[in-house]
Amino acid sequence: MQSPSKRGSSLRDCDKRYAFDSKALAAYRLRRLADSRPSSLRPSFLPILNNMNDFELIAQGAEARIYKGIYLGKPTLIKERFEKKYRHADLDKRLTKDRIKAECRAIIRAKAAGITTPAIYLANLERRCIYMEYIEDALILKEFIDKKVSKETNDDRLLNFIAQGLGTIIAKLHLKNIIHGDLTTSNVLLKNIDDDHNKKYENAANNFVLIDFGLARIESSVEDKAVDLYVLERSLLSAHSEIPLLFSKIFDTYQKHYANKNQCKEIISKYKEVQLRGRKRLMIG
Ligand SMILES: Nc1ncnc2c1ncn2[C@@H]1O[C@H](COP(=O)(O)OP(=O)(O)OP(=O)(O)O)[C@@H](O)[C@H]1O
Ligand SMILES: [Mg+2]
Repeated sequence: MQSPSKRGSSLRDCDKRYAFDSKALAAYRLRRLADSRPSSLRPSFLPILNNMNDFELIAQGAEARIYKGIYLGKPTLIKERFEKKYRHADLDKRLTKDRIKAECRAIIRAKAAGITTPAIYLANLERRCIYMEYIEDALILKEFIDKKVSKETNDDRLLNFIAQGLGTIIAKLHLKNIIHGDLTTSNVLLKNIDDDHNKKYENAANNFVLIDFGLARIESSVEDKAVDLYVLERSLLSAHSEIPLLFSKIFDTYQKHYANKNQCKEIISKYKEVQLRGRKRLMIG
């Protein structure tokens, strides 16, 4: 960066250069002003600095703090990946930046593939956070299942609705080679669901919002897809053991919606291999 005296003298040189053109001089001065400031103080970042204090901390996980508030007039969620003290500071910074970039990229790709995801408003790599659309009045799928399944345990419509929603969006993701990496019912939100027990569960995919792409990748092999499905199966068995058929129903929908039938066959056979390996590991410990 230039020293203040050097910057001052070059501005004076420029004043002479633009002496007969006041508009060009003003534009030049503005450019200089914007360029010479550290990135965190450039004009486009000022709204963040002003508004951050208005955000309310709503959750804290092992890796991220989640805040809710209003950004540029819109309900916004900030996901801040805080420092890991056990990691070397430079390494931590680099890994966090890479992860934030990968998360944003995957969310945008998933949206382009027709999956409902929160809109990304801003990624601030220096402050380690992503600003995204806050999905209002949404239920976490895990809580929805916990609440509903006890009441509507024999209701096939409910099971089909969940299987339709999840199976369709995972097929869409995988067809575009996107791996979510953490498919659990805690990372899916349900919107526009009312509490009416007689409600017909229809158009499932429109109600499902996929979140938490922190472990996502956008290049993938058949094996990656099989592992993604296996992660989902394991998480369903542990979180929703009362509905053991849920995974197979999701997998059926997935296969129906996976347009590339040859690759689908490969995924199914790879999935069986991965499942076998997993079972062996569970037995051996
Ligand atoms: N866009 C959103 N709109 C509304 N609520 C959200 C949104 N994103 C996240 N949430 C809520 O915040 C919780 C935590 O978010 P998320 O799953 O992204 O973070 P995490 O699990 O702590 O992160 P990670 O696993 O990447 O470290 C979600 O379970 C959900 O309740
Ligand atoms: Mg999560």
